[in-house]
Amino acid sequence: MPRTQSGWVAALQLALAVLTTGQNSSARPCKAVPGTPGWPSPSEWQSFNATLGGRLLQPNPPAAVCHAAGFNTTACKAIVKGWTTYDFHQKDPVSVDWNQWTNDTCLPLEGAPCTGQGYPVYVINATEPRHVQRGVEFAAKHNIRLVIKSSGHDFIGRSVAPNSLSIWTHHLSYVETHESFRPQGCRPWEGPASTTAVTVGAGTPMWNVYQRLDAVNLTTVGGGAKSVSVGGFATGGGHGVLAPKYGLAADQVLEVELVKADGQIVTANACQNQDLFWAVRGGGGSTFGALTSLTFRTFPTPRLDYASVSILTTNVSDPRPIFDMAAFVLSHFPALSSAGLSGYSFILRGLVPLPFQIANMTRPMGGLFFGGAVLDSSPEALRIMWEPILTYISITWPGLFVIKVEPESFPTFLAWFSRHYDVSPAGQNLWMGSRLFDAEALIKDRAALSRALETFTGVAMANAHLVSGKGVHDAPVARPSGLDNAVSPAWRKAYVHMLSGSPFMPFNATTKEHAKQDVQRRVQALKELTPGMGAYLNEADPEEPEWQDAFWGENYPRLLSIKREVDPNDVFWCTPCVGNERWEQVGDRLCRVGSS
Ligand SMILES: Cc1cc2nc3c(=O)[nH]c(=O)nc-3n(C[C@H](O)[C@H](O)[C@H](O)COP(=O)(O)OP(=O)(O)OC[C@H]3O[C@@H](n4cnc5c(N)ncnc54)[C@H](O)[C@@H]3O)c2cc1C
Ligand SMILES: *[C@@H]1O[C@H](CO)[C@@H](O)[C@H](O)[C@H]1NC(C)=O
Ligand SMILES: *[C@@H]1O[C@H](CO)[C@@H](O)[C@H](O)[C@H]1NC(C)=O
Ligand SMILES: *[C@@H]1O[C@H](CO)[C@@H](O)[C@H](O)[C@H]1NC(C)=O
Ligand SMILES: *[C@@H]1O[C@H](CO)[C@@H](O)[C@H](O)[C@H]1NC(C)=O
Ligand SMILES: *[C@@H]1O[C@H](CO)[C@@H](O)[C@H](O)[C@H]1NC(C)=O
Ligand SMILES: *[C@@H]1O[C@H](CO)[C@@H](O)[C@H](O)[C@H]1NC(C)=O
Ligand SMILES: *[C@@H]1O[C@H](CO)[C@@H](O)[C@H](O)[C@H]1NC(C)=O
Ligand SMILES: *[C@@H]1O[C@H](CO)[C@@H](O)[C@H](O)[C@H]1NC(C)=O
Ligand SMILES: *[C@@H]1O[C@H](CO)[C@@H](O)[C@H](O)[C@H]1NC(C)=O
Repeated sequence: MPRTQSGWVAALQLALAVLTTGQNSSARPCKAVPGTPGWPSPSEWQSFNATLGGRLLQPNPPAAVCHAAGFNTTACKAIVKGWTTYDFHQKDPVSVDWNQWTNDTCLPLEGAPCTGQGYPVYVINATEPRHVQRGVEFAAKHNIRLVIKSSGHDFIGRSVAPNSLSIWTHHLSYVETHESFRPQGCRPWEGPASTTAVTVGAGTPMWNVYQRLDAVNLTTVGGGAKSVSVGGFATGGGHGVLAPKYGLAADQVLEVELVKADGQIVTANACQNQDLFWAVRGGGGSTFGALTSLTFRTFPTPRLDYASVSILTTNVSDPRPIFDMAAFVLSHFPALSSAGLSGYSFILRGLVPLPFQIANMTRPMGGLFFGGAVLDSSPEALRIMWEPILTYISITWPGLFVIKVEPESFPTFLAWFSRHYDVSPAGQNLWMGSRLFDAEALIKDRAALSRALETFTGVAMANAHLVSGKGVHDAPVARPSGLDNAVSPAWRKAYVHMLSGSPFMPFNATTKEHAKQDVQRRVQALKELTPGMGAYLNEADPEEPEWQDAFWGENYPRLLSIKREVDPNDVFWCTPCVGNERWEQVGDRLCRVGSS
């Protein structure tokens, strides 16, 4: 019997439907989202919760209490107050420091929308490795977008995502010190020489590590803020005032425990899972697995002789001498670093937003402020370093700058940190950009450096941190762990990490675009002086052009092949992260690139 016409039409329609589905972007393979057939049913979530001992949360965005449905004046006031502090975001299961990463979808602003669309759907409040393991397995099995949040400090937005399951590691926090440490599986003649060490839960804040180590007169390489956690810090590199002497935080890691994409909990060190061990130290967070613990080398806490040096003027009518002076100071950084100095500089031009001020400004101010120290040295050594530089400045630009030096001495790292930790504000929309500087770029052409600094500083402020030096350059050779790591080769030549940001208004795509373009234009001026160098992953432009090269240089191909091997199905995905090229964000979904 011949087919009826309607049968042909139906077949044709079916073929067409198949064809268009193949080309329809919203129908290509994507991670599951609520309301689609792939998303687990309420009862599946319930039994998942049971396997976690009831540790599954479905939190509201914290600022929901400032909006219609959940409005609560008292609670909202507390949220508004906490929003600009790092502590607040660290202690909340879903909140992050920089508003754009939740797409401004629930700010504590009256009248603003609160959809919560930018936040995870479910959160695991992990306190044990098996909670992390269950989360990775569940996300893999159900094709759910997975994120890991520790403190939520990330400048490049890797610790939050819409329609996701989030593993919150903040309570995976403990500190265990070792008088000597041999990595698991290393025989006496293998791996690193025995050393004092500390094993910490992957969500442990820096402040807890510093305090516990200080009690036994030890310390390790950590960051400048109390609440930065070891998980994102050490996987991204991790600089600090001790780095120029000892190396980056990633260089101190002797062992990690992590949950791989297949759900296995493994130990990686110089004697087992060496590829993974290489990759997680510098290859970036939430890419090669979910870390549950890290073990760092520790060393006797140094004495710090510190000075804040301010070279400031209120005469900003002509920017030339301000940046010539700053370039002059920076050109001495390689030599100062070799002599043992490290620290943080702020280059100012104009009115700096109040919370960022290092001196109380009532009028626009220009110049340079440097707060830094020498280790196990003397106040005298520090004075001798600065004297010729400051003398040159007062002779070259007579009467222009007010120069002030305030020395302080601290018996331990903790004593110094307790007074000089990072107190800048969180809770805004901020686009950041950065670049690492080697000696040549600082020394060779001071006029060119001055012009680049002027462009980079923009209308307000830039940072030039002297946080690298011999210890970072030699780390692959000195090998505290017995194996080199994936930290960008640019760090091994760098002295200075320059960074600056552009804040922007919420709910206005134009201001965001302006901020991004402004930062990229300013960073471009630095790139021209630093061919072949790169940028520090954890404090960078989230849309850095040619990011693979900028963050990892020649290490990228090996990182990519390790990623493909340990996570063939992209259970872990973030941007900008190793091996993320096969997926892209389409609205609030994560979808396969191209046809599959
Ligand atoms: C106030 C402030 C000061 C800072 N000071 C310094 C500094 O002195 N030196 C420096 O080098 N950097 C500094 N940073 C940058 C810092 O290194 C990054 O923000 C880093 O991402 C923070 O890591 P986190 O775990 O605290 O944050 P999160 O935002 O929670 O995580 C950052 C990234 O790491 C991943 N991650 C976290 N935990 C794990 C885990 N257990 N397993 C796998 N992936 C994980 C996350 O998924 C995300 O990709 C500072 C940042 C801020 C906000
Ligand atoms: C793609 O499919 C979705 C849902 O199936 C539909 O709403 C949308 O209109 C389609 N888009 C195109 C361009 O065909
Ligand atoms: C998980 O179980 C605990 C304890 O039974 C409960 O309090 C919590 O609300 C559950 N979480 C979710 C998301 O249902
Ligand atoms: C409002 O918030 C406060 C503080 O968080 C809480 O104590 C109070 O119970 C809340 N009120 C209502 C009606 O939910
Ligand atoms: C997460 O777990 C910790 C440790 O059990 C607990 O103290 C904390 O209240 C929990 N947080 C939330 C939001 O459930
Ligand atoms: C730490 O150093 C202090 C001062 O030198 C000393 O009194 C103390 O015994 C030391 N503590 C430990 C645990 O070594
Ligand atoms: C400001 O500095 C410039 C040179 O940089 C100088 O020419 C000018 O006179 C100064 N103005 C004041 C008010 O001091
Ligand atoms: C700035 O002003 C505040 C309050 O007036 C004061 O406590 C602080 O010491 C000042 N800081 C500096 C660097 O002068
Ligand atoms: C968005 O910002 C731009 C640039 O600052 C401004 O011109 C524009 O008016 C703003 N749009 C709205 C809707 O506020
Ligand atoms: C962010 O919100 C805007 C509208 O407010 C929307 O157009 C955009 O798709 C959202 N971005 C993501 C990644 O969800």
